[in-house]
Parts: sequence; C-alpha cells; structure tokens
Amino acid sequence: MKVIDQFFTLNNGVKLPKIGFGTWQIKDGDDAYNSVLTALKNGYRHIDTAASYGNEYSVGRAIKDSKIPREEIFVTTKLQSHIKTYEGALKAFDTSLNALDLDYIDLYLIHAPWPWRDVGNADHEGNVLAYQAMESLYKAGKVRAIGISNFDPKDIDNIIKHCKVVPHVNQIAYYIGLDQKETIDYCNKQNILVEAYSPLGTGRLLDHKDIVKMAKKYEVTPAQLCIRYCLQKNTAPLPKSTHESRIIENKNVDFEISLDDMKLLDQVKPNF
Ligand code: A2P
Repeated sequence: MKVIDQFFTLNNGVKLPKIGFGTWQIKDGDDAYNSVLTALKNGYRHIDTAASYGNEYSVGRAIKDSKIPREEIFVTTKLQSHIKTYEGALKAFDTSLNALDLDYIDLYLIHAPWPWRDVGNADHEGNVLAYQAMESLYKAGKVRAIGISNFDPKDIDNIIKHCKVVPHVNQIAYYIGLDQKETIDYCNKQNILVEAYSPLGTGRLLDHKDIVKMAKKYEVTPAQLCIRYCLQKNTAPLPKSTHESRIIENKNVDFEISLDDMKLLDQVKPNF
C-alpha cells in the first residue's frame, strides 16, 4: 500500500493518515481553498490547519466541496496559543468548528505552551486549564483525539501530571538537522505520536548540497527525501505547498532510505 494511504495508530486507537497536508502560511481565500482541494483530489486525507493561520473558513469549504465523505478526512486544528482558560478554550473550539463548518474535529491541539508574544515562557497553569477543556470536548465526542504542539518534555510532564488523558499527539518542528532528540525520546516513551511540521525546513533544506546529492542517488527529489526521512523516524510529516506538481511530488515517497544513509542524514547541518 502506498504511504499516502497508510496510517499511524494513536494511543487511543484512532488512525491518522501518515502524511498530512500542512496549511501554515497559506493565505485564506483562493490559495487555501485551491491547495486543500488539490491535495484532497490527489489522495491526501489528512489536513492540518489552525485558528491562528486564519484559513479555517477556506479549508472547510474545500473539504465540503471535495465531496469526499467527512469520515474519510482527518482534520486537525489548533487552539490559539494565548488562550489559556477553560471557558476560553471551549469558546475558541466552537469558533473553529463554525469556521470549518464541521460537526467534529479529528485532532485538536494546544498550539504552543506559551503565547507567541512570550515564546519560551510556558504558562503551565493555563495549559492545564486549556487541556482540561479539550478533555471535556474529547469525552463529549466533539474531537476524536487531543494533544499539544511545540511542547517540550517538561511542558508535557505538566499535562500528564495534572490531567487524565495522555496527549495523543505532539506536533513539533522536525526536519533533517533538527533532531529534537529529547522531545522525540520522551514522546516515544509515552506513546505520543510526533507530527513533523516544516519537514522541508520551510523549503530551506531543498538546496542543501548533501540532501541534493543523496536525493540524486535515490532518484527522488530533495523534498521527497526530506519527507521520507521524517516517516522513517516514525513521525507524521505535514508538507505544505500551493503548487499541484509539488503537492503530487510530496506524496510519492514510496522508497526506502538505507540505515547507513539515515545515519548520514542525521549528521547534516542545515545552513540556515
Ligand atoms: P510552495 O508553497 O510555493 O510550493 P515546509 O513544508 O517545510 O513548511 O515547506 C514549505 C515550503 O516549501 C513552501 O515554501 C513551499 O513552496 C515549498 N515546497 C513544498 N514542496 C516543495 C517541493 N516539492 N519542491 C520545492 N519546494 C517545495
């Protein structure tokens, strides 16, 4: 079976398509609508958005217009990172659900442990309150899985200590050269699936000479090599593109990087 049709199984049994379509930095309106529709037309069944991307409305319209049965599409959205109260989280969830025009969300994540204006300064108390709201949405069947994004081990520890549901997913920046070792090891131990955003290093890895060279060896593109690397590290990559040819390219990753070459890629130092 092709990778685009394969799933990871979360720690609650829910199945998540291995490759997701990322929509960060895709403008609301035609750009977001057309790229999500194009991704769905080409076999993607996992769409990742967020309230803070400002494109939920267009993403939702594309999902509807694709005519693909709702239950065949895995939709993730995220709670804005400055919202750190129980009631605030519930209200924000309804706003996202309305914008997407859906009855339920597959995966709802706390976007970050800190508000963007205060990066690095985690609001542990607020994260517990927001997560408890997510637990209630999960219990009510409004979301099929819950989790966090940009959380490091101590941020996750705080959730596990004060909440009931071990997060199903942690979505972090992950690509060749950004090994996130502590967080990955921690998530593996807790059986939390890691999703890799910016698997192409937001495009900046694609002209790295070591990556270009190895891609040639496998007769694939640098983007395909980067995406395949994330999969072989058991993370779910969320490549983003607004071009159909690239959207197609990024799902065609049915090849195997040898263990020796994975080790070589582990040593690559990004030049940005
Ligand atoms: P575009 O949207 O114009 O296609 P990441 O997924 O790591 O955030 O990277 C996204 C960036 O990489 C975007 O700028 C996107 O540009 C570009 N990109 C995505 N897929 C490819 C590809 N297959 N080849 C070249 N550039 C790509």
